[in-house]
Amino acid sequence: MAYDLKALIDDVTTVVRATPDDDARCERITPHLRRWMDGEAPLLPAKYTIPCDGKACGHLLYTDPEGEYFVISVVFPSGTSSGVHYHGAWGVIGILEGTDEETKYARETSPDDIGIGQPCELQTVDKIYSPPGTITYLKPPLEGFHRVRAAGDETGVSLHILGGTPDTHPHFFCDGDTKTLIDFPMSGIITHDPMVR
Ligand SMILES: [Fe+2]
Repeated sequence: MAYDLKALIDDVTTVVRATPDDDARCERITPHLRRWMDGEAPLLPAKYTIPCDGKACGHLLYTDPEGEYFVISVVFPSGTSSGVHYHGAWGVIGILEGTDEETKYARETSPDDIGIGQPCELQTVDKIYSPPGTITYLKPPLEGFHRVRAAGDETGVSLHILGGTPDTHPHFFCDGDTKTLIDFPMSGIITHDPMVR
């Protein structure tokens, strides 16, 4: 039987329930995500791999009933970018299509206490170009800031397994004008017709 998204979700749920430590969770989810990504194309129905009115967006695929994690696909038309933002909960991300350019940032001021209204003067830590098949992590507070861009000619599609729910996952945008962190609720930037219920 094919290892489909439902099978991946079953394995992720088992890992998450048994693994309170965020780093260990990310590590133990990885082989399951790898197995799913190695499956036969298309991995997702077309409606979960297209932009929203031509713009970048996410599509909700699943929310854990106990609120410990959720799964979204994220779509960036060629050349578009997320802007600099912060994730306040763990994440495992698999690149499915396109070339993902990820710039990672850190903040010198109170690097482990990050909240809305605080300054976001950041230092660039790394810039990574990832082809399809790559798996990356979000490990806040120290590795929670990033900017993602579809660097190639293709639309970028990735799968994100993230801590919390679309309503509770802390997600802050670095406002370019005020250079402060503003709330950037995940629930406001995704569609809400989950693939798996
Ligand atoms: Fe992000």
